[in-house]
Amino acid sequence: AVLVVGGAAVWFGAGASRPTPPPAGAASFDRPLRIPELAESIVRDGVRVFELEAGAGRTSFVPQGDTPTLGYDGAYLGPTLVAARGERVRVRVQNGLDVSTTVHWHGMHLPAAMDGGPHSPIPAGASWTPEWTIDQPAASLWYHPHLHGRTREQVDAGLAGMFLVTDDAEASLPLPRTYGVDDVPLIVQDRSFGADGGFAGGPGMQFDGALGDTILVNGTVTPHLAVSTERVRLRLLNGSSARMYDFVFADGREFSLIGTDGGLLAAPVRTTSVPLSPGERAEIVVELSPGEDAVLRSRAPDPALHAGAAAFDVLQLRAAASLAPSPELPETLVPLPAADDADAAAQRTFVMSGHSINERQMDLGRADFVTEVDTTEVWTVRNENPLPHSFHVHDTQFRVLTVDGGPPPRRLSGWKDTIALEWNREYRLLVTFEDYADPTTPYMYHCHLLWHEDQGMMGQFLVVEPGQQPDLRRPEGDTD
Ligand code: C2O
Ligand code: CU
Ligand code: CU
Repeated sequence: AVLVVGGAAVWFGAGASRPTPPPAGAASFDRPLRIPELAESIVRDGVRVFELEAGAGRTSFVPQGDTPTLGYDGAYLGPTLVAARGERVRVRVQNGLDVSTTVHWHGMHLPAAMDGGPHSPIPAGASWTPEWTIDQPAASLWYHPHLHGRTREQVDAGLAGMFLVTDDAEASLPLPRTYGVDDVPLIVQDRSFGADGGFAGGPGMQFDGALGDTILVNGTVTPHLAVSTERVRLRLLNGSSARMYDFVFADGREFSLIGTDGGLLAAPVRTTSVPLSPGERAEIVVELSPGEDAVLRSRAPDPALHAGAAAFDVLQLRAAASLAPSPELPETLVPLPAADDADAAAQRTFVMSGHSINERQMDLGRADFVTEVDTTEVWTVRNENPLPHSFHVHDTQFRVLTVDGGPPPRRLSGWKDTIALEWNREYRLLVTFEDYADPTTPYMYHCHLLWHEDQGMMGQFLVVEPGQQPDLRRPEGDTD
């Protein structure tokens, strides 16, 4: 079948030929899960300073050969940055690639000029040094390139990493937090490989972009994680460019969802599944019994979304014969302010259709709207296609007011920066841009299916002081 969206005909077939990971139960879990290293930093004049270098390398994923990859400070993915709320941070990013890139701090509240969007390209061989003060709750954020039109290519090649924010509220709770032991980041991606071991992106290309037939977790194929404690905290990031996941355990066990994109929930939510669209994160805590294996798997989120999708395995947790005790989870986590739209200064509507938002495509020289700093707005978002789209906003963490007029599910009750949009549902979001006004550099909002983003399913807005004149600058060298 050919579906015509936004004036472009795209293949939307029955899905029989789409790359699909081996069915649940088939994985060997013979490789130990790779844990991204913690990024080193030094504190100089009260500023925590990190260095990151984007570069090319080769990574061994599959028997047919090494894969040419990109990474930060290594061949694939990047180190995990950790910084505390209240700290001033500076990251010196060196571009060791032979093409331009950017580094965007996904989920971070920071000035637009530090955000690393398409207005901040770093030419090959050059460096860029953003600096800002961390001022947001403890959360699992991430970083990745955001080069205009080339985000998918660079993220898929391996440029992505986690950025963990800590704070006193989180530190005072009895949660697992020993990095790599009982507090483990899981960057979940799907990739396909060619006959020589190189990444193959093309064959799975459909409306949503390319799906892969091999699941990578932190760059590891068929991974297992040795667990030595009764409880383990998993920080799940859907780092794929198109695939939706619905994470469950093979035995259907319950676990606790404790956090979403922008921080902890008010209280743990007992559940058996967590769906994540590209860019979304979830923190879960799982209980294990001595000596058991528990398999994290994805069931098909919605057969209508990825035709032909079936359940597939992601990671095996291997519990040691004796486990160190972990404290019980607390009944409550952190206070969340009531999501209250009484003072909303503006209402905006975003209709996602084809590869456009409100029938417009990204133009680096156009501000799609201008908003005033420190005011609250209500955004109504709708996906008009019976196909996957999501909605991501830079600089802020929003709250979900309603889904189709009713209260959101509890898994959407906390801080979010990215939300999966089911077909024809109406999501009302409470959005605030605090602290930082800049009449020249915009922030982005977009679908986080990376191919859609690259195709122009993105817009940009300026945040200004009351009465300030917007003066959007097109980035140097941009001509379209
Ligand atoms: Cu994760 Cu605009 O990006
Ligand atoms: Cu972002
Ligand atoms: Cu989309």
